[in-house]
Amino acid sequence: MNQDWNERFLNDFEALSANGATSGGGVERQAASGGDLKNRQWFEELLKELGATVTYDEIGNQFGLFEFDPALPFVGLGSHLDSQPLAGRYDGAYGVLAGAHAAARLAERINSTGEKPLRNLVVINWFNEEGSRFAPSMMGSSVFSGKLELQTALQSTDLAGTTVKEAIAQAAWGPVKTAPEISEYAEIHVEQGKELEKSGNQIGLVTATWGARKFQLTVKGEQGHTGSTLMADRKDALFGASLVIASVRRLTDNYQPGELQASVLQLTLEPNSPVTIAREVKFNVDLRSPSSEVLESAQQELDSIILAAEDESKTSILKEQTHHWDLNPYPRDGVELSRQVVEELGISHQEIFTVAGHDSTNMKDLVSTVMLFVPSKDGISHNEAEYTSPEDCLAGVKVFTEVAAKLIFS
Ligand code: GLV
Ligand code: MN
Ligand code: MN
Repeated sequence: MNQDWNERFLNDFEALSANGATSGGGVERQAASGGDLKNRQWFEELLKELGATVTYDEIGNQFGLFEFDPALPFVGLGSHLDSQPLAGRYDGAYGVLAGAHAAARLAERINSTGEKPLRNLVVINWFNEEGSRFAPSMMGSSVFSGKLELQTALQSTDLAGTTVKEAIAQAAWGPVKTAPEISEYAEIHVEQGKELEKSGNQIGLVTATWGARKFQLTVKGEQGHTGSTLMADRKDALFGASLVIASVRRLTDNYQPGELQASVLQLTLEPNSPVTIAREVKFNVDLRSPSSEVLESAQQELDSIILAAEDESKTSILKEQTHHWDLNPYPRDGVELSRQVVEELGISHQEIFTVAGHDSTNMKDLVSTVMLFVPSKDGISHNEAEYTSPEDCLAGVKVFTEVAAKLIFS
């Protein structure tokens, strides 16, 4: 039976990866876009075939309920099916499918042995984890965990001005029900780093997350003719932005490798004409570190960079924090439970930090949580070339199933 389940997992993963597939072997499934809608519909049918009842909540989280006893709370097994633009096929999707298969395997076991679980299972596809179309990232799990107001999330817009509320209404996901009560949570994800590949270990037991600070910067200048506006008179928003952009990248040179990651992203400019000086430029700055002190000092340095850029470009720059999370440990009981599983199964493993945010970053602050990694080839992610071998994928599903078993039976 295990052999059949393994084959079925690989086949299902191929079918899932065909939804929103790109010509370079990746996927394009930004939240509530065509690729995401098609994939969610496909996943709803798969969940039903596996024996689940499917419901949604108001922020568009998709739940596959395996209810063994209505009096029991649920263990959540989740991740996300949405993707970045031109993304890899594993980020998020691997974990959601692993959750569905783990739940189905356990439902089959309960049916055949008559064992009595102490918890039900719910497979969760969190809405808009990626935050590429609508900010902030981890939106569905942020609303579920009470860190983000539903109404605030629904008002978030994409670059075309469409709100989350409009996108969800158009998708017409249903039935919309109150989210199930979750007593424990587990997630498995590709590492998106090189640690497991370097050590040759098959499973990472995530013990903590790096902290992150995300900002939107708006540079305000003055629109003018590119030829006739005297250099001394210019208030060029793109010049102001460029001074910040290069300095944010160079900021990392002040720290040891691995202490600070700093990026500039999603730049828009007005009026974006080849013959007119930009009056306004918006872009995002993303700072990450495993040290709160480093994050704090990088943030102060960012403020100095902004002041210097304002002065040199004669623009004004507004900085707004859009999302943040602290350097934070995962609950120790979850790490120990998964360690017990990998030791029993004889699967090579190590403790590991996560640099990326995950829906478990939110869930761990609400309930006891397990977070696991499988290896990523060359650490590549948010790129069509993202890859995890079938053997590593299957080892992950096996471990994840046993983690879920411990959570529902003990
Ligand atoms: C996740 O969404 C991240 O920002 O790392
Ligand atoms: Mn992810
Ligand atoms: Mn991602």
